[in-house]
Amino acid sequence: MKGSTFARAASLLSPLFSLAQAQEKWTHPGTGIEFWKQTVDTSQTSGGFEWGYALPGEPTGSNDEYIGYIKGSAAGKKGWSGVSHGGGMPNALLLVSWPEGDAVKTTFVYAGGYVNPDPYTGNATLTQISHTVTDDHFELIYRCQWCWIWDQGGADGSQLPTNEVQVIGWAQHKDVPSGTSWTFHNNGQSQFGAQPAQARNAKYFEWANGGGTTPTATPTATPSGGPTPTPSQAVPTTCVGKPAPTGSFDYIVVGAGAGGIPVADRLSESGKSVLLIERGPPSLGRFGGTMKPAWLNGTDLTRFDVPGLCNQIWVDSAGIACTDIDQMAGCVLGGGAAVNAALWWRPVEKDWDYNFPAGWKAADIKAATDRVFKRIPGTDTPSTDGKRYKQEGFNVLSTAFSAAGWKQVKATEQPNEKNFTYSHSVFMYEKGQRQGPLGTYLVSALERKNFQLWQNTKVRRVVRSGGKATGVELDGGDGGYCGTVKLNDGGRVILSAGTFGSTKLLFRSGIGPKAQLNIVKNSIQDGSTLINETQWIDLPVGLNLNDHVNTDTVVRHPNVSFYDFYKAWDGEYPSDSKQYLADRSGILAQSAPNIGPVAWEDVKGSDGIERAIQWTARVEPSPPATDNTSMTISNYLGRGSTSRGALSINGALNIFVSKAPYLQTQEDFDAVVTSIKNLQAAMAKVPGIVFEVPAPNVTVEAYVKSLPLTAAARRANHWIGTAKIGTDSGLTGGSSVVDLNTQVYGTENIHVVDASIFPGHIQTNPTSYIVTVADHAAAKILALGKPSGGTPGTPTPGKQAGAVRN
Ligand SMILES: Cc1cc2nc3c(=O)[nH]c(=O)nc-3n(C[C@H](O)[C@H](O)[C@H](O)COP(=O)(O)OP(=O)(O)OC[C@H]3O[C@@H](n4cnc5c(N)ncnc54)[C@H](O)[C@@H]3O)c2cc1C
Ligand SMILES: *[C@@H]1O[C@H](CO)[C@@H](O)[C@H](O)[C@H]1NC(C)=O
Ligand SMILES: *[C@@H]1O[C@H](CO)[C@@H](O)[C@H](O)[C@H]1NC(C)=O
Ligand SMILES: *[C@@H]1O[C@H](CO)[C@@H](O)[C@H](O)[C@H]1NC(C)=O
Ligand SMILES: *[C@@H]1O[C@H](CO)[C@@H](O)[C@H](O)[C@H]1NC(C)=O
Ligand SMILES: *[C@@H]1O[C@H](CO)[C@@H](O)[C@H](O)[C@H]1NC(C)=O
Ligand SMILES: *[C@@H]1O[C@H](CO)[C@@H](O)[C@H](O)[C@H]1NC(C)=O
Ligand SMILES: *[C@@H]1O[C@H](CO)[C@@H](O)[C@H](O)[C@H]1NC(C)=O
Repeated sequence: MKGSTFARAASLLSPLFSLAQAQEKWTHPGTGIEFWKQTVDTSQTSGGFEWGYALPGEPTGSNDEYIGYIKGSAAGKKGWSGVSHGGGMPNALLLVSWPEGDAVKTTFVYAGGYVNPDPYTGNATLTQISHTVTDDHFELIYRCQWCWIWDQGGADGSQLPTNEVQVIGWAQHKDVPSGTSWTFHNNGQSQFGAQPAQARNAKYFEWANGGGTTPTATPTATPSGGPTPTPSQAVPTTCVGKPAPTGSFDYIVVGAGAGGIPVADRLSESGKSVLLIERGPPSLGRFGGTMKPAWLNGTDLTRFDVPGLCNQIWVDSAGIACTDIDQMAGCVLGGGAAVNAALWWRPVEKDWDYNFPAGWKAADIKAATDRVFKRIPGTDTPSTDGKRYKQEGFNVLSTAFSAAGWKQVKATEQPNEKNFTYSHSVFMYEKGQRQGPLGTYLVSALERKNFQLWQNTKVRRVVRSGGKATGVELDGGDGGYCGTVKLNDGGRVILSAGTFGSTKLLFRSGIGPKAQLNIVKNSIQDGSTLINETQWIDLPVGLNLNDHVNTDTVVRHPNVSFYDFYKAWDGEYPSDSKQYLADRSGILAQSAPNIGPVAWEDVKGSDGIERAIQWTARVEPSPPATDNTSMTISNYLGRGSTSRGALSINGALNIFVSKAPYLQTQEDFDAVVTSIKNLQAAMAKVPGIVFEVPAPNVTVEAYVKSLPLTAAARRANHWIGTAKIGTDSGLTGGSSVVDLNTQVYGTENIHVVDASIFPGHIQTNPTSYIVTVADHAAAKILALGKPSGGTPGTPTPGKQAGAVRN
């Protein structure tokens, strides 16, 4: 599910987006400069925040500059304000400003993922036009040149003022930056849509050259990167780690997440040798994990074990989140299955039948589903005492749903009843702790002599000759391995590195669209070692990207009260921690932030396609609501959505969402609007429920339209689709990357088994489906036996699903 910010309001990562309020044309009294300006009020950030800009009357040659205005909060002359020129934090030019005495300091920084930013090494240049510092605020007017197009050692991006709207991100912190060491901003963050047309002004250059009516300061240029800009990297970095042990394997599985763990376990059941390689460190305590809050000291539990701590990922993700992608994902043992909210659903048959090809329909995958649910049944009462805690939110909403004719179901037993139904949340917890694939498949795999797990080891690429993989090249890590691990003759490589990770591995292995492979070829890191172009395999890797479109609604009711799971991390509810430690019961045995009910409906589009909606409620407000009796009810559009996006790689070999997959078609938009109206009608049945977002005077259509179609504003963290499974080979113009045995077209022994093979979205959260796909895929891969046939440029002869027992 998506993340959250309330209470700590510290999230660097949260996708929450606030409706743009308070936008105006405004003349700065000191300089006479006319700005288009956004005001963020004090309910979102203490002290408030303002940002404005002016653009040249006509787009200049490169269209790459503006005059900016920042009014930052700085109580006691302390605090910094940040602006993202790309909207989100990763992969964008970030400007940070703060008061120092009576001066205002600025620096440009850049982050490839949700990690501490580095000094920016590109050529952005800031010239101060005026500034003031008071006891509570600072104000800065600046000219920013080379600011809409950025490039950090090859990681390039841009957001030119050529569209109707530019998405600008902001964040504030109540302290000052210390050197290059940053801490999570703790005074709010969000985005708004700026309007370039409103910012254009013929007087721009007069102002830019300091010719405002009363300039209050002499312009002083602050080039990016500080006084000594870090030189950009000129040579490839070499692998850091120990030499890999010698030895070769029948199967090498890359990535120990929701897909990789089950496929590796099932392959190892055959007695063949299996190596599972994970880039991240251990997570659960039972596997040697150590990350935990102080109140877990002295126990064998980590933050990953305890359900109530799952949302800590949104405020404290260092050493856990992947650093090379622009979205949140877990790069630890278990991947998303270690960091997620553990919602776990028995699959809806229609999801398979509608999306998947022959051999992967509901009937085909039933045996695998049964195997998975025998091992991981899921529970809607995760606390070991069988009680559910703080259920006021569930009770209020279910009273409304029920009055409106929605039917309560037990999702564990009635998976197909998903039209105007609702249920308690179901989690992959057992005995009050996170289990899922980690607590089952990984445990059985580790018992086998023919199975090995290497952690803290990144895989760089598949080593292949034509369509035949011979091993994988390693990229080290903290205590991990370097070198190449070989496949035995007849062996296979399975990429299970997640939608972003497998896309990256395929690109670095010379498999994907030519434009993407050319970026890898031109990169410093891989340029000289990428497989020869004559052996590239041109497949639509990275396309067909999808995610649930998230649209938040907010209601409040006096019965509801917020429980602060972030404070529970800090040990501020000792009786709850004590209860959990005593027998794994209480509210901390439930996922943060108190999730439920979960409801579903199907909406038929004017194109005849039925679209599946999931509603996920949680006790937590979303901006602009702040009330502690509020609940956010997130709308996810899933099965049937017809919008698709794309992933791309940049010169620093980071993967990013280059096209967001949200609401590109009218029918997708209409489905979201219709379902929100259905929700409003249901909520109206309980007079005490106040609909806060969308507000009563805003139409649902206007509200849905007001939210930007960006990943930062709409993601549900359920990314799928970039190595689609299907019979229409991408080698011959089709849309599929892997065949019905999950084998990459044009190869004879390279497979992809993770969320990226899903052709289209499903109705619910995806982990249970990914585990099921992996279990099913293992059977198909085992049935294939030794690799045969397949050369680049030639589709692998279709091995039929009939050859497989399940
Ligand atoms: C914060 C959050 C909350 C979520 N909540 C839920 C929820 O409640 N319920 C639900 O069903 N879904 C949820 N999801 C989604 C779900 O977790 C993912 O869809 C799922 O984990 C994807 O499975 P995967 O196997 O494709 O990839 P992942 O689980 O991401 O696994 C990929 C693994 O590969 C590793 N890897 C990547 N690159 C390399 C490399 N080069 N070398 C070696 N290893 C590599 C990674 O470290 C990772 O362990 C959530 C996701 C997030 C981020
Ligand atoms: C800054 O870099 C861009 C390309 O990234 C280039 O077009 C521009 O000329 C550079 N500007 C300066 C002042 O060097
Ligand atoms: C818990 O352990 C950490 C790391 O070892 C240590 O820094 C901290 O002081 C400990 N806290 C308590 C309350 O024991
Ligand atoms: C609110 O709480 C009261 C007191 O417990 C209860 O009687 C009432 O039914 C609740 N209302 C809803 C809508 O849940
Ligand atoms: C879902 O329920 C609605 C309302 O009862 C109904 O009109 C629609 O046909 C149902 N859809 C499906 C697929 O059953
Ligand atoms: C790539 O292969 C072709 C054909 O074998 C060869 O001519 C060329 O030199 C190779 N290029 C490199 C960079 O090795
Ligand atoms: C909720 O907010 C009100 C008003 O701000 C405050 O008085 C109350 O203590 C809060 N309740 C909780 C549980 O935080
Ligand atoms: C809706 O009402 C709020 C508060 O009464 C007001 O601030 C806002 O401008 C109104 N919005 C519209 C679109 O009328």
